[in-house]
Amino acid sequence: MPDYNGHVHIILCFLVGFSQPQTWKGEIRRRKGGEGADIVGNLSPLCALGTYERPPEGDCDEAGLRMDAISMLGSSPLGTMETFLPNGEKNGLKERSGKPTVAIIGSGDFSKCLTIRLLRCGYRVAVGSRQPKRAAEFFPHVVDVTHQEDAVGKAGLVILAIHREHYATLWGLKHLLVGKVLVDVSNNKRMNQYPESNAEYLASLFPESHVVKGFNVISAWAMQSGPKDASRQVYVCGNSVEARQQVLELARQLSFVPVDMGALSSSREIENMPLHLFTPWKGPVLAAVSLSILFFVYSFVRDIIHPYVRNQQSDFYKIPVEMVNKTLPVVAITLLALVYLAGLLAAAHQLYYSTKYRRFPRWLEDWLQSRKQLGLLSFFFAGVHVLYSLCLPMRRSERYLLLNSAFQQVRADVESSWNEEEVWRVEMYLSFGIMSLGLLSLLAVTSIPSVNSALNWREFSFIQSTLGYIALLIATFHALLFGWKRAFQPESYRFYLPPSFTVALVLPVTVILGKMALLLPCVGRRLRRIRRGWEGDQFRNDMSGSASAAAHVSPERVTIM
Ligand SMILES: Cc1cc2nc3c(=O)[nH]c(=O)nc-3n(C[C@H](O)[C@H](O)[C@H](O)COP(=O)(O)OP(=O)(O)OC[C@H]3O[C@@H](n4cnc5c(N)ncnc54)[C@H](O)[C@@H]3O)c2cc1C
Ligand SMILES: NC(=O)c1ccc[n+]([C@@H]2O[C@H](COP(=O)([O-])OP(=O)(O)OC[C@H]3O[C@@H](n4cnc5c(N)ncnc54)[C@H](OP(=O)(O)O)[C@@H]3O)[C@@H](O)[C@H]2O)c1
Ligand code: HEM
Repeated sequence: MPDYNGHVHIILCFLVGFSQPQTWKGEIRRRKGGEGADIVGNLSPLCALGTYERPPEGDCDEAGLRMDAISMLGSSPLGTMETFLPNGEKNGLKERSGKPTVAIIGSGDFSKCLTIRLLRCGYRVAVGSRQPKRAAEFFPHVVDVTHQEDAVGKAGLVILAIHREHYATLWGLKHLLVGKVLVDVSNNKRMNQYPESNAEYLASLFPESHVVKGFNVISAWAMQSGPKDASRQVYVCGNSVEARQQVLELARQLSFVPVDMGALSSSREIENMPLHLFTPWKGPVLAAVSLSILFFVYSFVRDIIHPYVRNQQSDFYKIPVEMVNKTLPVVAITLLALVYLAGLLAAAHQLYYSTKYRRFPRWLEDWLQSRKQLGLLSFFFAGVHVLYSLCLPMRRSERYLLLNSAFQQVRADVESSWNEEEVWRVEMYLSFGIMSLGLLSLLAVTSIPSVNSALNWREFSFIQSTLGYIALLIATFHALLFGWKRAFQPESYRFYLPPSFTVALVLPVTVILGKMALLLPCVGRRLRRIRRGWEGDQFRNDMSGSASAAAHVSPERVTIM
């Protein structure tokens, strides 16, 4: 039995053996004479799922608690519900009888879609509108479309499907909303549009209600058609744990994946979520596009413009495949090197300041945060490079060039053009390329949330860090072997520009050398100590002596202190 004294509790009372479709109001109300806000959690779906221990019948009375009366939906004929429910369900009786009424204020797009979803999941819905007659036309007739105050009176959980700008118009319902769960689903047009979040504003208007933020990340369409891959998660926050639990459970019942975000102070973050458009990808995509343009122009000048200017030789046919297949791998390996360069700079920062508690500069923090995106983009570019490479021999130009060289060979009376060194070089660089791509695929697979959640921290770190470095090393060998001696041949320097593979190798080689420096016993030991929490004297003195140093302290440090 839960302890009813003082604290906030859900008291779950089961209704068994319904002979009529009935529902508890699921209302949160202040316990008579009690100090805390007790929840007469009545027939919330929590009961049905057994999330909480079910008290024996009559226990609510024994505890001296007033239970809400059973409210009957009454207004919608059952037969109509049977015809409305989708998926060929014969009738919604069983489900409907077990789930409470949900009130929705507002009769707009979101309200309609949410109503359909709730009905499909067996809930009863009362829609509160300023003009119920007009609004009723747009709802299935099983829905109780009524005045706002009527709808609020019929349910313990009220979803506000109106815009923030209209919250104040509900002022007249304040007394009816006391103790009820008010779900704020609203979004704004811009990030941080108002000084406080919409949910906090709502809570300030109705301090005696239990405001919960949720469902705002789900579009009206996704709500109606059911959760899709990209819109499954519903982020929920609110100051009342029980009210939050009700909304979390509601989301679960509607087949979404609820995510508990804690107190109402998280509502701003939740409200900003739908306004993001690939935010973590912006920097990495910009880097990839800029590098692509840079290297494409570089190769174009070297490999197309140079022969044209020098020998009037037209190699423009190389643009669609060869030029692209020079750009893609160079960008792939550069992005891969950038992933690990960030970690190296972070290590250098920690070594320099002899602590892991000092904040990285903002740009480095952002860079560290975007490594996953950089890595996945590198994998994408490498994958497309492989497809292009496999198609190289299919080209008509390749066939003509082969025939021409065979013809010249015949004319020169050369019987065999076998070149052992060339054979080995190509065999080796292809093999290295394939191995590197294999490892990158492994990294990409483990970055899928369902896969990485099955790995522990050490396993994930081994794959991402150790195998990632090996992938970079092998890709570097791949490019080195591809280039072979050409880096040292003067004719390779067209317009004094080195071949693209040499440019591509600068960053990976730097990163590999940097990593080797970190592996030196004297450096590695010191870095390991720092990462275990050891601090140099200088940082400790800074910390105790100067207040300004506190501004640089990482959040991890703040927690520890
Ligand atoms: C295809 C692909 C997919 C990827 N997917 C992901 C992904 O899903 N998630 C992801 O995060 N990355 C991903 N990455 C990026 C990359 O593989 C990882 O970030 C990898 O962990 C980087 O390894 P690292 O050794 O450079 O850095 P880390 O091991 O993260 O170290 C970086 C720096 O952090 C600091 N540090 C590390 N450990 C500690 C410690 N114990 N205490 C204090 N400071 C410490 C040090 O300064 C260190 O130098 C992906 C890369 C690729 C190519
Ligand atoms: N549409 C989406 O995809 C979506 C997704 C996530 C969240 N949301 C959020 O859901 C809420 C509703 O969005 P919506 O798309 O349904 O908007 P909507 O179609 O414009 O409907 C809003 C409803 O608010 C009521 N209303 C309008 N003016 C009002 C006023 N002056 N005073 C009081 N009530 C008024 C109206 O209902 P009555 O006339 O019946 O009173 C109207 O139908 C918004 O907060 C939105 O941010 C929407
Ligand atoms: C199955 C795997 C791979 C195959 C078959 C392959 C094949 C090739 C081929 C045929 C070339 C020569 C292209 C040309 O003639 O211009 C090449 C070059 C190159 N590849 Fe790969 N590759 C693979 C994987 C990778 C990976 C994973 C990377 C890096 C992440 C990479 C980076 C490079 C680089 C930098 C070059 C030199 C490009 C230039 O300067 O012209 N390759 N690869």
